[in-house]
Parts: sequence; C-alpha cells; structure tokens
Amino acid sequence: MRLDIISVIPDLMRSPFEASIMKRSIEKGLVEVHFHDLRDYSTNNYKQIDDYQFGGGAGMVMMVEPIDKCITKLQSERNYDEVIYMTPDGETLQQGMANSLSLQENLIILCGHYKGVDQRVRDHFITKEISIGDYVLSGGELGAIVLCDAIIRLIPGVLGNETSALTDSFQDNLLAPPIYTRPADYKGWKVPEILTSGNTPKIETWREEQALQRTQERRPDLLNK
Ligand code: ADE
Repeated sequence: MRLDIISVIPDLMRSPFEASIMKRSIEKGLVEVHFHDLRDYSTNNYKQIDDYQFGGGAGMVMMVEPIDKCITKLQSERNYDEVIYMTPDGETLQQGMANSLSLQENLIILCGHYKGVDQRVRDHFITKEISIGDYVLSGGELGAIVLCDAIIRLIPGVLGNETSALTDSFQDNLLAPPIYTRPADYKGWKVPEILTSGNTPKIETWREEQALQRTQERRPDLLNK
C-alpha cells in the first residue's frame, strides 16, 4: 500500500512511522509513506497556502490552488483508490472502514488546518471525508496518524500470527476479553484458573463469554449493530 499524506506540517507526523508496527510494515516493504508539504505547491514567494474567508469570519482557509497542484501531480503519476480529507465533520472512523481501506493500493490523505479547506477542494477532489471522533483537533495530522495506524496493522503480513488483528476489539463488534501473563499469582491476585488449565476448547468458550459480558457492560450499542 502507498500512502501520500498532504499537510502544512508534515514534520509533525514522521515519528509515529519510525517505531513499532508502522516502522516494520515499511521495512517489510508492505507500506510506503510519502509526505507532501503543501507549501512546496504554493504559487507565491511567501509560500502562502491560506487566506481570509470570503464573506468575513474568523480563521484562515486553505486555498484551492496549492492543493489542486499537489493532488493533480500525484494523480498524474498513479491511480488512487480514495482521496481522503481528515475533518471533524467527516464520517466517524470505525473498524469496518479501516478494514475496507486496508484492502486498497493507493490512498491520498489530505490534512486540514486552520478553519479547513476551500469547499471546492472537497467538491472536486475528495472522495471520502473521515473524522476520528466528535472533538476538534488543531489539524487533521493526528487524525491521519490514527487512520494510518488503524489501516496498516490490518494489511496482510504486517502483524505476525501471534498478534493477529482478527482477535482485536471491534472485529465481530465485540470488545476483547481480559488478558493475563506470568506470574499466575501476584500478591495473591490470581489469574482465572481456566486459563492455566490447558483445556483449549474451554478457554475459547470462556473468552467468548467474557468478550460478550464486557461488551454488554461497556458498549451495549455494539451488540445492536
Ligand atoms: N481535524 C480536526 N479535528 C478532526 C477530527 N476530529 N477528526 C479528523 N480530522 C480532524
């Protein structure tokens, strides 16, 4: 998968891709991440990429021309499955959306900043608008990182069997069951006996029951999906 991320502060986003699973996915050649600094596509000497709103109002708006130049250049080089815009008024990111995006080949992710982008960018370039939750961030960059992490871990081969994404919370609309590791008894706090019994079918049943119970208690809304 190739991810092209467009931003006015690409440096903000580099380090999450330099550690852990996202780093390994790049090292394994399963993922390519390319950052694009929108200021490189500015059409004036001041590297301006934002301007005042028509009609008045507080806050700057990201201009259509630099974004057009950047996206058009990328699209002249290859086909993209989606051109995503990170925005609090987009569709809320859910596991199902991450699952389907993880099957795509090439994605452009545009990070909004200031008040956001000129509406004509959304009308003419964007194919999908994504929010990571009902709160407003200073820009789309952190949202883009969250989105990339959620997608990348699902790409076949990124996680080993031992950390398979299939057992994550939200796959099957269930939260994950409780987990334990050694020691089996710490200060008298004991691991449930079933987990050390070696009885695999019973352990599986216990985990399913626990997942269901946890979901009922914490996120009953998931069970109605
Ligand atoms: N930009 C600002 N807030 C955001 C959010 N909640 N999700 C995605 N992008 C954003």
